[in-house]
Amino acid sequence: MSKSSANAWKLAQDFMRRQAGVVLEDDQDYLLNARLQPVASELGFPDVPALVVRACQGSAGSPEAKAVLDALTTHETYFFREQAFWKGFKQEIVPALFKQGPRPLRIWSAACSTGQEAYSFAILLSEIAPTVVNDCEILATDISQPVIHKAREGRYSAFEVNRGVSGSRLVRHFRQCTGGFRVRTQVRRRVSWTEHNLFESLPTNAGQFDLILCRNVLIYFTREDRQRVEERLISHLSPGGFIGIGCAERSAGSKLTSVCPGWYRKS
Ligand SMILES: C[S@@+](CC[C@H](N)C(=O)[O-])C[C@H]1O[C@@H](n2cnc3c(N)ncnc32)[C@H](O)[C@@H]1O
Repeated sequence: MSKSSANAWKLAQDFMRRQAGVVLEDDQDYLLNARLQPVASELGFPDVPALVVRACQGSAGSPEAKAVLDALTTHETYFFREQAFWKGFKQEIVPALFKQGPRPLRIWSAACSTGQEAYSFAILLSEIAPTVVNDCEILATDISQPVIHKAREGRYSAFEVNRGVSGSRLVRHFRQCTGGFRVRTQVRRRVSWTEHNLFESLPTNAGQFDLILCRNVLIYFTREDRQRVEERLISHLSPGGFIGIGCAERSAGSKLTSVCPGWYRKS
């Protein structure tokens, strides 16, 4: 790696840690060219270091900064990700939430990527709580503008729906469109989408949530940052509400009690 690329990688590591909390390890320096060369070409920079210097030393909201942040974050996701998580939701969480019968829920999918997690909840709620689903609210947020745009559109390729959507759900909740499938309007209108950084507070009028999902993102953060974000999430959780994280992740906080794989309850 040339000296200017090595310097650019250090700048990019520092930028990602400061802006998003994402830790990029030294031995991931292959990402510099793999992810940023296409961005540099598209934005008309002579090379990757020139892009990185502009992105990391300019304003955080500049198009270059947003493009670098988007390219260096991992957006991997799919519908109904992790069977054990959804099994636990149906068997443990739903009975606890609906002890007194079905009621409208408020759900926040934080770091939602391209939307499969939020739509999975919208679909599942229509199956298990059809009488209240239209009164449920799902807020879905991510730091990356392009993924929020794709999520809001709700258009997925055949490859993407094949990762987790059963045949019967495909027929019921999607319609065919050019290039693949689109989530039906009645499912899409249950979710609202907005850009949001986990290190910032939600607007005060966002209120409290019964369920908060923050899955497969805190693994990229330091332990201290994980704790800070968890505390912020817990402050948005209703008393007795639940937080869902990746099944292989562990909560960093002490105010949560483990319920089943991926699920914790506010004590
Ligand atoms: C691997 S995806 C996880 C998507 C989904 N939650 C799941 O489990 O399938 C991680 C997402 O976290 C987002 N992200 C990373 N840092 C973030 C931050 N500081 N605030 C909000 N979102 C962030 C990324 O843009 C990415 O879309």
